[in-house]
Amino acid sequence: METRLLPYSDQAIAEATQLILAGEPVAIATETVYGLAADATNAEAVARIYQAKGRPTFNPLIIHVIDLAAAETLGHLEYAAGRLAEQYWPGPLTLVVPLRPKSAIASIATAGLPTVGLRVPRHPAMRALLEATRRPLAAPSANASGSISATRAEHVMKSLGGRIPLIIDAGPTEQGLESTIVAATGGPLRLLRPGPIDVGAEVVAGVSIEAPGQLASHYAPSKPLRLNAFSAEDGEYLIGFGPIAGDANLSPSGDLVEAAARLFDLLHEADASDKPRIAVAPVPEEGLGVAINDRLRRAAA
Ligand code: TXA
Ligand code: MG
Repeated sequence: METRLLPYSDQAIAEATQLILAGEPVAIATETVYGLAADATNAEAVARIYQAKGRPTFNPLIIHVIDLAAAETLGHLEYAAGRLAEQYWPGPLTLVVPLRPKSAIASIATAGLPTVGLRVPRHPAMRALLEATRRPLAAPSANASGSISATRAEHVMKSLGGRIPLIIDAGPTEQGLESTIVAATGGPLRLLRPGPIDVGAEVVAGVSIEAPGQLASHYAPSKPLRLNAFSAEDGEYLIGFGPIAGDANLSPSGDLVEAAARLFDLLHEADASDKPRIAVAPVPEEGLGVAINDRLRRAAA
């Protein structure tokens, strides 16, 4: 794939908008680091973020929105979270809050979690893209897995060149440090990642005090899960792949982007079924299959 590099302009935003609405990821500046943005309501578009980054695991992604009102349609900001939002948005603060169950966010964007990380960015380029697409945009840092975050378009090109269609160059980023992340999911506010904003003493530092289940960093089904299943045994809900049909199929054609896009929905479906156990057909250990298998192995452990 040829990666185009366009300076930030109305024309560049128009091209980026077309790509986003077609389900492609686009790299763009925010005030912290460059982000690799995709339509958060389109599961396959979000899967392409992971594909481009070569991430060996699915992490929940930060969802960028235009303002507090848009954030409130996706997540529930209780009093303290709302106050932080009013104080620091737009800006380099991400709030992890309970996901509204009927929100349009694809489950792969939150890695199947019932919470969502929301941020209202300040940078005009990212804001222009949010306005033009009228979509919430999932955007992790625009770097290949294992390399450091990109603060210049050239860094993005070096890291992701050939793997994404477009980079919008708006010069070096202002902060050069990823956003501060605060969890507001009940109980005291918790600092999940320090960053440019000092949220002060009301926020408890560190994640270690987290009660189990309060904010699990990984979704896992509640039922036992068996890997590499070629057929269902008694009492198993089989999640198929390719020719192994199953009760539901990650991708009948064996397409790993489609399989990644459907993974968390099907795990939730299997968990909600009347079968006491879950089995999953083998998924090839290549490309997005690496991240899919990582998540399945954790679920089976
Ligand atoms: O400044 C930034 O935050 C940049 C720009 C592009 O916005 N983005 C960024 O995204 O740093 P990323 O994916 O590299 O880091 C996101 C972090 C991850 O460590 C992830 O685990 C955490 O946010 N996160 C997102 N949603 C979460 C959730 N629901 N629960 C817990 N952690 C969450
Ligand atoms: Mg990152």
